[in-house]
Amino acid sequence: MRIQVITIFPELFEPWLSTSLVGRARTSGLVEVEVHDLRFFTEGRHRVVDDEPYGGGAGMVMTAPPWLRAVREVSGPASRRIVLSPQGRRLDDDKVQELAELEELVLLCGRYEGLDQRVLDLVVDEELSIGDFVLSGGELPAMVTIEAVSRYIPGVVGRATSVVEDSFHQGLLDYPHYTRPPEVEGLEVPPVLLQGNHAEIERWRREQALIATYDKRPDLLEGVELTTEQREVLARHASAIACAAGERAQ
Ligand SMILES: C[S@@+](CC[C@H](N)C(=O)[O-])C[C@H]1O[C@@H](n2cnc3c(N)ncnc32)[C@H](O)[C@@H]1O
Repeated sequence: MRIQVITIFPELFEPWLSTSLVGRARTSGLVEVEVHDLRFFTEGRHRVVDDEPYGGGAGMVMTAPPWLRAVREVSGPASRRIVLSPQGRRLDDDKVQELAELEELVLLCGRYEGLDQRVLDLVVDEELSIGDFVLSGGELPAMVTIEAVSRYIPGVVGRATSVVEDSFHQGLLDYPHYTRPPEVEGLEVPPVLLQGNHAEIERWRREQALIATYDKRPDLLEGVELTTEQREVLARHASAIACAAGERAQ
């Protein structure tokens, strides 16, 4: 996959792009990321990318001409052109998987009050948000998008099963993880994980993933047809919680 990023702060990407998962994905050629400085596409000595808003009001607006030149120059025929924006569709696992299927992404990182609307009207396919809050720029949202998408490119994450077992992929949260030492301040590792019975470990992990989802993100289970086994697991869990609450109340 090729990813083109357009920003006025290319230097923000440098250390991140050569580190960790994305760094390895680039080195192995599985993901190609090119970062373009929007100012390179300006005209005039001062390389200005913003101007006052028509109609007045607070803040500055990113002018359309450099964006139009930049997006048209770096896009290929198969590019999906995405502007990072708090007004966009919220990024989630379904969206990440959809983007990971594409050949090429062009990510537009806004600043100030955002881009002149005509950039969106003329050269943008979609707006993408990383959540209902406002950041000062689209660079962090672009990095979030690139990292999440890269994890779904085959070969990027060492063991493909770890992506499949991660939260959301199968509609559930991940199960709890433990590593050495076996006891931490009186808390022991669940015995099943130490006994080497892989079928039992798998069963325990399936149950714990379901319980974690029920406890932390019950909305993910809405409308899901649970199996008899899953319903029994949750019934046992609910009655254990009720018992513990009863004991505390006594
Ligand atoms: C200060 S914000 C502009 C906010 C805009 N005036 C609004 O209220 O919708 C500047 C830039 O940060 C980026 N940005 C801020 N919050 C974001 C979010 N939640 N998701 C994606 N991008 C975001 C966008 O690229 C945006 O153009």
